[in-house]
Amino acid sequence: MNIAKIAVLGSGTMGSGIAQVAAQSGYEIVLIDVEKSLVDRAITGIGKALQKAVDKGKMTAEDKEQVLARMKGSITYDDCKEVDLVIEAIIENMDIKKDVYKKLDELCPVHTILASNTSSLSITEMAAATKRADKIVGMHFFNPAQVMKLVEVIPGLDTSQETLTVVTELSKKMGKVPVNAKESPGFIVNRILVPMINEAVIALGEGIGTKEEIDTAMKLGAGMPMGPLALADLVGIDVVLAVAEVFHKEFADSKYRPALLLKQMVRAGHLGLKTGRGFYNYK
Ligand code: CAA
Repeated sequence: MNIAKIAVLGSGTMGSGIAQVAAQSGYEIVLIDVEKSLVDRAITGIGKALQKAVDKGKMTAEDKEQVLARMKGSITYDDCKEVDLVIEAIIENMDIKKDVYKKLDELCPVHTILASNTSSLSITEMAAATKRADKIVGMHFFNPAQVMKLVEVIPGLDTSQETLTVVTELSKKMGKVPVNAKESPGFIVNRILVPMINEAVIALGEGIGTKEEIDTAMKLGAGMPMGPLALADLVGIDVVLAVAEVFHKEFADSKYRPALLLKQMVRAGHLGLKTGRGFYNYK
């Protein structure tokens, strides 16, 4: 099956990053969100990122224009009627996702694959909202999607081998390295990374080190490119908490209990880079 046209649902950090990478890889993209202002902001952001690449001599101005010409913004799911693949990167809420998958199933051509960028939710449960469980798959990118090489490819219970092959090949064409992961909360990376970030937040709460000390220690002592608290700010503290809560619920094991400080940060609206304040200040 040949993928030519892709819809990306959700124009947040992940959706816009994925849309940019896909457009740079030659695919025709429609980036869809619920409000025009959100879509416009994302496309403006992508334009600026591409301009930076031009300024650095990594892309020609002509290439930049061609990438942007392959991208269109939209606020209607009707634009999914002509795509070969949908990459869903909306809010991590299963009820909302199920509504979206049901709607996509009704709108999209029979051959269209529906891929979710979920960090930790069940692909099988999303697939159950559709009549095309064989074409539902996890395609999990990492933040920043423009830079991080990995894509986790996750089958649900009824995902076909053909769907897995298409998404694996597409990931390669997007310059990524696909790794298969079984369907299990958090798949591979988040299963290991999120408990580590949670532990860093607990250590901070216990006063074992300041945020700078914890991050410096993990950078210089464990070879991380950025410390776990700075990484939580990059990923979004709400996203980290949402994944931690899925683990706590699904595994029913107290070792996955989210740090109180993580909950407090989310309740206060300090979500990291995207709100200008998290463990660090960005304003
Ligand atoms: N968007 C686009 N490009 C970005 C970027 C962003 N947000 N951040 C950095 N870059 C680019 C820079 O432009 C630069 O590009 P060039 O080489 O072309 O100049 C390159 O990345 C390197 O950036 P910097 O020199 O500014 O900084 P760095 O070398 O420290 O790298 C980093 C920044 C890539 C973010 C690095 O610190 C890193 O790898 N951090 C860890 C990120 C990580 O672990 N991500 C996974 C999070 S978990 C997740 O996403 C899963 C989930 O479901 C929650």
